[in-house]
Amino acid sequence: MLIRGLMDREPGGDAADSGAPQADGASAVFAHDLVAALAARPRHISPKYFYDARGSELFEQICELPEYYPTRTELAILSRHVPEIAALMGPRAEIVEFGAGSLRKVRLLLDAMERPARYLPIDISGEHLARSAAALQRDYDGLDVHPVVADYTQRLLLPATLPGAGRRVGFFPGSTIGNFAPHEALHFLQVTAQVLRGGALLLGADLVKDPAILHAAYNDAQGVTAQFNLNLLARANRELRADFVLDQFAHSAFYNSPQQRIEMHLMSRCRQQVVVDGHAFEWDEGDTLHTENSYKFTIEGVRSLALQAGFRPGPVWTDEGRLFSVHWLHAPV
Ligand code: AVI
Repeated sequence: MLIRGLMDREPGGDAADSGAPQADGASAVFAHDLVAALAARPRHISPKYFYDARGSELFEQICELPEYYPTRTELAILSRHVPEIAALMGPRAEIVEFGAGSLRKVRLLLDAMERPARYLPIDISGEHLARSAAALQRDYDGLDVHPVVADYTQRLLLPATLPGAGRRVGFFPGSTIGNFAPHEALHFLQVTAQVLRGGALLLGADLVKDPAILHAAYNDAQGVTAQFNLNLLARANRELRADFVLDQFAHSAFYNSPQQRIEMHLMSRCRQQVVVDGHAFEWDEGDTLHTENSYKFTIEGVRSLALQAGFRPGPVWTDEGRLFSVHWLHAPV
């Protein structure tokens, strides 16, 4: 999942849980980015570093939390409107999923589609992708499941459509688009508009709403989101030569209303020094490392961004509480 940062999962994430410091390429990049982030002012790091094996597990737990409405709301919207979505997809369509983290959602689509031709999940983590693809292949006999190991935020080369296949439909659920900076979101949509020429994109986007609902979703009572945030430091301790004392950092998540985004930070609870990969960093009480933005959208905002990227906005589905939106965007021909 890129985001899940530019939301890509790190290869070698599972190995990171072995306890031994890792010296592979992925950890070297993490070390470089974390050292640069801690030296900068303000301190800011890509949320892609949340997603090692432990972080991915914690994210799955977040999706089940009572306060975290996006996953179940999007699933409800998809279930309710899947006949119409399947009709728009047409017979023998191919689904290209950006990230391989939402098998429950893609199954909903596949079950309703008329003879789906192929499923192409794209993820930077080959291991995660292989697991998801194998699980799906077991359950959908006639479906051609074709995993693509790639960073979908970069240039993307997909295999040619199958002979006799229908539309190519991109699927980007979960409002992962909200974890991009606005210019990155536009770039991503521009690239996908080209890759999906003649087809469409099915996009999930979380909506602007009562800040109290947003605040609760990112500050859950069980503290799972806090653990997810703090896992970044735990991961640095596991993979790099870092000595973060986790109790000395606090999870901080709040809605930045002018920017229409939830911001997550890790805040130092005291004056302290931390060593990462041989570099020492001083923290004052209250200093923060900015770990994630989660932008919230208006329906019009998504449609105008999509239009700017070359899509022609089509139907939009939402829930009764207007918490979340799912958009059908026609790609250029
Ligand atoms: C993956 N992404 C859409 C989630 C979000 O809501 O921005 C990540 C997350 N961060 C904290 N909770 C969930």
